[in-house]
Amino acid sequence: MIAYGGDYNPEQWPEQTWADDVRLMREAGVTHVSLGIFSWSLLEPDEGVYTFDWLDRIMDLLAGGGVKVFLATPTASPPPWFGHRHPEALPVDADGRRWWHGSRQAFCPSSPIYREKALAIAEQLGRRYAGHPALAMWHVHNEYGCHNARCYCDASAAAFRAWLIDRYGTLDALNDAWGTAFWSQHYGDWEQILPPRITPSFANPAQQLDFRRFSSDALSALYRAERDLLRELAPGVPATTNFMGGSHWDIDYWSFAQEVDVVSTDHYLAGADPEPHVDLAFAADLTRSLKRDRPWLLMEHSTGAVNWQGLNRAKRPGEMHRNSVQHLARGADGIMFFQWRASRAGAEKWHSAMLPHAGTGTKIWREVVALGDLLREASDVAGSTVEADVAILLDWSSVWAQDHPAQPTDLLKPVEEIKRWHAELWRQGVTCDLAHPESDLSGYRLVLVPALYLVSDADAANLERFVEGGGVALVGPYSGIVDEHDRVRLGGYPGAWRDLLGVTVEEFFPLEAGETVPLAGGGAGTVWSEAARATTASVLDAYATGEPAWTRNEAGRGAAHYLTTLLAGEALARVLAAVCAEAGVATTDTPGVELVRRSHSDGRSFLFAVNHTDADAVVKATGTSLDGTPVDGRLTVPAGTARIVRERR
Ligand code: GAL
Ligand code: ZN
Repeated sequence: MIAYGGDYNPEQWPEQTWADDVRLMREAGVTHVSLGIFSWSLLEPDEGVYTFDWLDRIMDLLAGGGVKVFLATPTASPPPWFGHRHPEALPVDADGRRWWHGSRQAFCPSSPIYREKALAIAEQLGRRYAGHPALAMWHVHNEYGCHNARCYCDASAAAFRAWLIDRYGTLDALNDAWGTAFWSQHYGDWEQILPPRITPSFANPAQQLDFRRFSSDALSALYRAERDLLRELAPGVPATTNFMGGSHWDIDYWSFAQEVDVVSTDHYLAGADPEPHVDLAFAADLTRSLKRDRPWLLMEHSTGAVNWQGLNRAKRPGEMHRNSVQHLARGADGIMFFQWRASRAGAEKWHSAMLPHAGTGTKIWREVVALGDLLREASDVAGSTVEADVAILLDWSSVWAQDHPAQPTDLLKPVEEIKRWHAELWRQGVTCDLAHPESDLSGYRLVLVPALYLVSDADAANLERFVEGGGVALVGPYSGIVDEHDRVRLGGYPGAWRDLLGVTVEEFFPLEAGETVPLAGGGAGTVWSEAARATTASVLDAYATGEPAWTRNEAGRGAAHYLTTLLAGEALARVLAAVCAEAGVATTDTPGVELVRRSHSDGRSFLFAVNHTDADAVVKATGTSLDGTPVDGRLTVPAGTARIVRERR
């Protein structure tokens, strides 16, 4: 079954509405709702005083209507009594300003009293609903770190020190890792160590990096505490928490994903992006990759406009449908929305929903009902996995380290680079995974490293092994530069991969905004240039001045390519097409028509075709369409629509 539904906030409506909700859910084919996400203040109106009767009634009503529940712990939004009675548990920013209650997520992730209160309400829910027929999964919290990813208060400082003691053991080890001989930062006592609060000049880069790691761990520790309690109270009920894959970068989802039973994520289109569906593909690919070969859930997206961008445009007819099929194609086993019924009041009253303000006689409602039908027809897709021959390496620590402001240029943005390469592959019709640099790469033909400034020795060796074993790699500039403590790898850049790439670099020459380096082979580089010397590599393209722009070095049974500048447009397309060809990765002959395959281990497979262009397209496919119509080699995908084919291969 493909799960279908959304966040359901019945507490915002008079109880007479609820029966109508359940009736309309059935009409739309809703199978699941996420319930109670922001209802802490109505479940525990005063500290230790609980009122579950309304939740009992709606749980029973949903069970009666055949709608399953992802029951939330409401810990993402502590009630006003919490901030009022425990002001020391409110978050504090780097400038020392305390944030008040009145919106949501006003708590310090390291506050002992927050943890106590969060576990108390989670325990109540676990005890009360463990055996409830509607309960399908725990939806722990909501979007950890969305607003309060880092807290700089004294409680957080103490927790940071404990985390550091655990990581380094001795102050000597910490002083060495952080390079504290620089600027007189040698620590003589753990108590002297602080979060990187506002200071006169740059903070210590390794301190800043460890604080990012600590803050990510503090959030996953909160999740684990709730999950462990729920597991004990309701054995066998799976747990998830909704990530923000591809749009928020404060949590190391590689490690957090190990803690959830099912990966779930939220995705919203960036309003100003002319091709938001390309970014959608990135988010879906990243989410799928967090637990490779396991289906995931799209916990939230929108039927139309959101409310939190500068300009919030509704979706065009068919756009929500294409978005949904894209997620499905890229491995989602559930398509859910924020939210079921559009709010009448509150900060999200201008956010679209499955049931809009205007009611059921609407474009949105018709599309919602149609999507429910489609997902029911596609139920045998569930459990199948996505095939990918290409991986793009991504590491949160590296992104965080490169976030330190004292860099050769502030124009080089790792996440943007990774997304740009992914987008170009999307244009060439290549489905790819994201992968942790230390993960098993042996199943891939091609590994791309657009931006990996920080690498551990193990990361570096892993890529070497992949290439020596016969793989093709392409590495972007300013990768392999520092170790896991953000200390430069000496002897010429890129220290980690000089031998693998057959290249050595002495100095960087970053470019001004708008400045370019013309390339002999056509096009130009932007943002970055460097004086590279090929030691064993051959030069495939060069700057007009003769310095290498693109090199290729054979290593073992494979080859490692390197770029010394950022390429865009045609130039990037040319290089990526070349490495795909070398690795034997097929590219598309119908650009703009997204083609992705999911398959079951027993051989059944599905071809998803999403036509993002204004013209009808014909793609190769053989099998039957969802309604049983035969597809004999050629499938017409009308402009702006999506098709799913049960393949015969
Ligand atoms: C998500 C959040 C939802 C809702 C939604 C609006 O970030 O989890 O609760 O706020 O955004 O787009
Ligand atoms: Zn704090």
